[in-house]
Order: sequence, then structure tokens, then C-alpha cells
Amino acid sequence: MSSPEVSVVTGAFSYTGKYITRRLLAKGQQVRTLTGHPNNPNPFGDRVSVYPFHFDQYDELMKSLQGATTLYNTYWIRFAHGAVTFEQAVENTSVLIKAAEQAGIQRIVHVSITNPSENSLLPYFHGKAIVEQWIKASPLAYAIVRPTVIFGGEDILINNIAWLLRRFPVFPIFGSGTYRLQPLFVEDMADLVVEVGQQHENMVIDAVGPDIFTFEKLVRLIARVLERRVLTVHVPPDVGFTLARLIEPFTADVLITHDEITGLMDDLLISQQAPTGHTHLEHWLLQNRENVGKVYASELQRHYR
Ligand SMILES: NC(=O)c1ccc[n+]([C@@H]2O[C@H](COP(=O)([O-])OP(=O)(O)OC[C@H]3O[C@@H](n4cnc5c(N)ncnc54)[C@H](OP(=O)(O)O)[C@@H]3O)[C@@H](O)[C@H]2O)c1
Repeated sequence: MSSPEVSVVTGAFSYTGKYITRRLLAKGQQVRTLTGHPNNPNPFGDRVSVYPFHFDQYDELMKSLQGATTLYNTYWIRFAHGAVTFEQAVENTSVLIKAAEQAGIQRIVHVSITNPSENSLLPYFHGKAIVEQWIKASPLAYAIVRPTVIFGGEDILINNIAWLLRRFPVFPIFGSGTYRLQPLFVEDMADLVVEVGQQHENMVIDAVGPDIFTFEKLVRLIARVLERRVLTVHVPPDVGFTLARLIEPFTADVLITHDEITGLMDDLLISQQAPTGHTHLEHWLLQNRENVGKVYASELQRHYR
């Protein structure tokens, strides 16, 4: 009997990585995870073995990758905070790619972002573009998957918009509110990631949902589903940012960054390609309206404890 294929997934206890891991296990694969939180509860028990990221211990990192066929890489940071910087995230990813090559990984499925650009002034989009270039230049076979905003049980953006709508009678819209998003359901994202992981050719694909919303329409949709009569008020982006700052002490989190507002307003979270996901945000919201936004989802709590 041949032994099962081994895959490595970064962040199997976090968000997207958890959904990817579920699918790989269901396919009978063995999964290892690399994580910054190796002591977090392991929902998969002994079906997933756990290794710290070891970005600064190359040999250990390589050992954690040896014997695996495919690396599913979700590792990235949402914003720079404290000692955590985008430069470091780019450097860490470069180390991970090199270790994957040397460890004999055959294929990398790398999660990027819609519209990355080496010319972007936004470190998130710039860093993602640099990493994509390295992956394309590496001998690894690759699938680069570029998602827009991902929604689902543990998402942050949609959940926290709902959280705000549940608590405040007024919702500030940055600028015109006509900039757009094309949210993708996390289960559709994981389906795509695992599907392209089974293929062999090199590819770059946007991962986007079936609906494009303006930001204002998105906020109004969530308010409608929650049956909240909330006044949307257009404010200059800097004023919106300042208001977000005022709320932050109540959340002990970074609600949104200047760069995220810029990325949103620059229409970077939509695709020119055909949708890959089929789940409609409205449908999901209707099914989950009892829970969405009930509890604030904290980035700092997740990644900076
Ligand atoms: N969520 C979205 O809406 C969205 C939209 C577009 C693109 N993406 C991209 O999709 C990928 C997965 O996103 P996700 O939201 O599912 O991420 P996630 O599960 O929260 O995190 C993915 C991985 O990155 C690590 N990580 C995250 N923030 C970190 C930090 N500040 N310092 C150190 N490590 C950190 C996590 O470490 P632990 O294992 O220790 O948790 C985990 O291994 C990322 O590459 C992201 O850029 C996400």
C-alpha cells in the first residue's frame, strides 16, 4: 500500500489554512502545519502535526518541509505592528520558498491578493508582488491564488462592519463609498486552493466571489440583513480613520489602517476575471445573521498575543 501524500499548510489553526486543511485531510492526505502559535488548540488532533515557523532556524524549517509534496502558503501579515514589519514578512516568505525548494517540495500553492503590484506604495500589495516574482523565478511548480476579501465564520472585515452596525446608529463611509469589493466565501476559497494544488501547470488565478458591491452597498446590505436602521454618513477618509481610532480602545485592536482604506478606495479588491466562487454574501449573511458581528474579531488578539 502506498503511503499517503503529505502536504504542509501554514496556519492550519488560523483562518483560511484551517479550511484548506479540512479538505486535504478529507482527501486522505497527511498534513503538517507551520504556525506562529504551535500551542494553540489543535482542532485536528493527531491528524495534523505541528511545527513552529522557524524562519530563523533554516535547518529546522527545512526538516519540517522534507517528505512533503505540496506547500500551501497562507503566511502573511495584515499590517505592521510593533516589531512585526512587512519587510520581515517578505524576508520570511523568501526563506520559506528557499527551504521548500531545498526540502524537495514539488508544488507551492501561494495565497496572494488581488492586484498586487511592485509599483504599489502600499507595503501589503507591494510585498505580495515581490513574493510572487520570487515564486515564479523558483524551480517550484506553482499556483498563485489571489483572493479579494474573504468572508465566513471567522472573518474580520465583514464581521466587524456588522459589529459596528449592531452598536452604533451612524456608520461613517470613507469618501464616496463607490469603490468596490468582490467578497469570496472561505469555503469557495479553500475549494479553489485545494483544486489548484492537485494540478501540475504553473498558474496565477484571482479568487473572487460572484457579486461586486460598492462599499456603501455592502454596508447597507449588512445593515438590512441585521435589521438595523443605521445612518450612513460620508466623511473624508482621514476623518473616518480618526473615528476608527476613537473606537479602538473599546476593541483593543487596530480597526483599520490608513493603507487598508487606501487599498479599498483604489478599487484593489475586485478582479477583471470571471468569479471563481459561487456563494453569495447575502445568502451567507441571511443564514448567519444571528451570529455575524455579535463578537468583535480582533486581529491583535489572533496574532499578537
Ligand atoms: N482574510 C482575508 O480577507 C484575505 C483577503 C485577501 C488576501 N488574504 C490573504 O490570504 C492569506 C490567508 O489570510 P487569512 O486571513 O486566512 O490569515 P490567517 O489565517 O489569519 O493567517 C495566515 C498565516 O499567517 C500568519 N500570520 C498572520 N498574521 C501574522 C502576524 N501578524 N505575525 C506573524 N504571523 C502571522 C498566521 O500565523 P498563525 O499560524 O500563528 O496564526 C498564519 O499562519 C494571507 O496571505 C492573506 O494575505 C486574506
